[in-house]
Amino acid sequence: MNNIRVNINDALGAVSQNAIEAMASEVRSSVNTLLEGTGAGNDFLGWVRLPENTPDSLLDDINATARRLRGECDVVVVVGIGGSYLGAKAVIEALGNPFSVYGDSKPQIVFAGHNIGEDYLYELQKYLEGKNFGIIVISKSGTTTEPAIAFRLLKAQLEASAGRETAARRIVAITDAKRGALRTLADEEGYTTYVIDDNVGGRFSVLTPVGLLPIAVAGYDIKALLDGARERQKAILSGADKSAEVYATTRNALYRSGKKIEILVNYNPRLHFFAEWWKQLYGESEGKEHKGIFPASVDFSTDLHSMGQWIQEGERSIFETVISVANVDHEVRIPSDEANLDGLNFLAGKRVDEVNKMAELGTRLAHVDGGVPNILVTIDALTERTLGSLIYFFEAACGISGYMLGVNPFNQPGVEAYKRNMFALLAKPGYEAETAAIRERIS
Ligand code: PA5
Repeated sequence: MNNIRVNINDALGAVSQNAIEAMASEVRSSVNTLLEGTGAGNDFLGWVRLPENTPDSLLDDINATARRLRGECDVVVVVGIGGSYLGAKAVIEALGNPFSVYGDSKPQIVFAGHNIGEDYLYELQKYLEGKNFGIIVISKSGTTTEPAIAFRLLKAQLEASAGRETAARRIVAITDAKRGALRTLADEEGYTTYVIDDNVGGRFSVLTPVGLLPIAVAGYDIKALLDGARERQKAILSGADKSAEVYATTRNALYRSGKKIEILVNYNPRLHFFAEWWKQLYGESEGKEHKGIFPASVDFSTDLHSMGQWIQEGERSIFETVISVANVDHEVRIPSDEANLDGLNFLAGKRVDEVNKMAELGTRLAHVDGGVPNILVTIDALTERTLGSLIYFFEAACGISGYMLGVNPFNQPGVEAYKRNMFALLAKPGYEAETAAIRERIS
């Protein structure tokens, strides 16, 4: 099995092994609550056995649709926000070559509907002019404003440029089986559709068609991704693998000791969006009832030259979780230079990754010395299989951790507040009372 190793030795200065062991019955009870489905939000536990329950026939079907889109499109626009885009973006970036966008590899995957930037949408529409493009529109509720605006614009552009019939063939909708405006529209237009099951929340949906179709269109092996998740699911649910419990317990112990902010650290630029996915997973699951660790992230060594100062010497309310990737894909050695004007010959012959690993170790030691406890999560390499495994590990740990914190990890009541105000300000029908109240407030 591909490995995930969780090492908490560098967190033990801030919390003792005894304190962690004293939480053993608490973590057990959270695991049981999750597995027996007896806790708050238990109607959203579909993700727990999702890897095992996903039939290969669904993967074959998704791969067939992906092949069709790849054959027909130069660009595929993935429209979605939050859990309906971050998982796909995280995996595609973790597996991809950052320079492929400048080459002629096809199809290019671009994202929309994750912001309300007028310039972004204008520039995207300009970019798509004259190109064969397709759209994967994703919204579990089928009513989210940001993707709905982007989809309305892009659908009109595609129909105008390729004709309605071709557009209908190149649009795939991923949404609820029955409810929501997107379901109505997709049925009416005859789009290919995939379903997000009711019992899987948006931020836990990367291993459903929500993540799998864009990842397959990008050319990656979704069977290997699922296999990695299946292995991790089996190991965690059987109790053979305690890594998720260890991570959940340690972060809660640190939180209780006053470490209110967790910074997810990577030393591999491909993991930037994995951290964005992780932030949503933990932030939306745990930040409620005026509780919850604030999930932050940095890309090292890049951010050592910006946030590094704060982390080393700022307020001691933080801890770090480092995702360490043991092996990189390619080998680059630093050349020797006879003149050595840059003074770098002490590195001549070394691999760049060796330097990176020493930056990683040196930083970890410095941060621990500076009062920043450290949890180390090591994976073998960035492959579909390890990423599937890592995704399931973080999802499982999130469910356990949320129950240890004493919240419902599977709802997100707080995200409605901005929407109510925005709809009131935009005078959406049905919001008349709120519109009057908010106008009064800001007048
Ligand atoms: O985790 C969640 O439920 C949210 O972040 C959603 O994914 C996000 O709000 C998008 O919702 P929808 O897929 O319904 O458009």
